[in-house]
Amino acid sequence: MVKHFLTLKEYSGKEIASLIDRGIAIKKNPERYQDVLKGKTLTMIFQKTSTRTRVSFEVGMTQLGGHAIYLDWMKTNFALADIADETKVVSRYSDLIMARLIKTEDLMKMAKSAEVPLINGLDAMYHPCQIIGDLMTVKEKKGSLNGLKLAYLGIGNNVSNTLTVACAKLGMEFTLCAPERHPPSVDNDMLKWAKSTGFYKEEKDPRKAVKDADIVYTDTWVDMELFMDPAFAKEKERRLKTFMPYQLNKKLMAGSKALIMHDLPAHRGYEIDDWAMNAPNSVIFDQAENRLHSEKAIMLMLLNK
Ligand code: CP
Ligand code: NVA
Repeated sequence: MVKHFLTLKEYSGKEIASLIDRGIAIKKNPERYQDVLKGKTLTMIFQKTSTRTRVSFEVGMTQLGGHAIYLDWMKTNFALADIADETKVVSRYSDLIMARLIKTEDLMKMAKSAEVPLINGLDAMYHPCQIIGDLMTVKEKKGSLNGLKLAYLGIGNNVSNTLTVACAKLGMEFTLCAPERHPPSVDNDMLKWAKSTGFYKEEKDPRKAVKDADIVYTDTWVDMELFMDPAFAKEKERRLKTFMPYQLNKKLMAGSKALIMHDLPAHRGYEIDDWAMNAPNSVIFDQAENRLHSEKAIMLMLLNK
């Protein structure tokens, strides 16, 4: 069985914690790792746009001594052929595959046919690479993770799902403050499990959610492939109105010392204001940087290095 990195559900708390610690160690001493993946190739395939995921994996692979290839799905024959066939072929050329696909079922088809480790670079339901970099950032700032309280404001989605899983496995309290969930992201089995752990809570009032939180996290209310889609314009308009009370801003954060987090790209003036982006407690750009160090930890783990 090939080991993949798809949701974090398949990893134990101990394994997640060790990835986070490895990311911190690599960041402190990057030279130690500069030849570890010499001669190895990561093939990255994207159906959606990306800044952080694409650049951090590509730079990360270069800094580990390996090579990364970027593929735009529409410019390959994945667009017209069977996903399993094309994945098998890419596996024969590559040591690792990273994919950012719109549909979770397509990612799962790819996982079944991949002959080398597959990394989920974001799908409809999960964003595991993001959350390793995020929790690495929290650990750097706070020293430890166990017992911390994280409040997530906005829409339930791929990012909040992955945070839910990671927090429960690491003994952190996760509070979802969201009037709705993005329908393709709903994972009822995971939610049932998260509730059973005692680490998952829901709170409708943003003020109550933020009070006592050690970390306040937000993400876009509209997933990237829909943000400029004319067919989604009406729903986008509705969401921008519905979700305004959940905006992370100066007024909401008054009196709070919580770390402010956002996975980016941010839509300033919607889920977050300029003040919160640049606030003294904002660690948003450290999160983005830590994608680089934590992606390296993920690739090394998958290649047993
Ligand atoms: N946070 C994140 O995954 O960013 P990109 O979509 O730019 O890769
Ligand atoms: N949840 C958003 C942002 C992820 C980086 C999306 O899926 O587009």
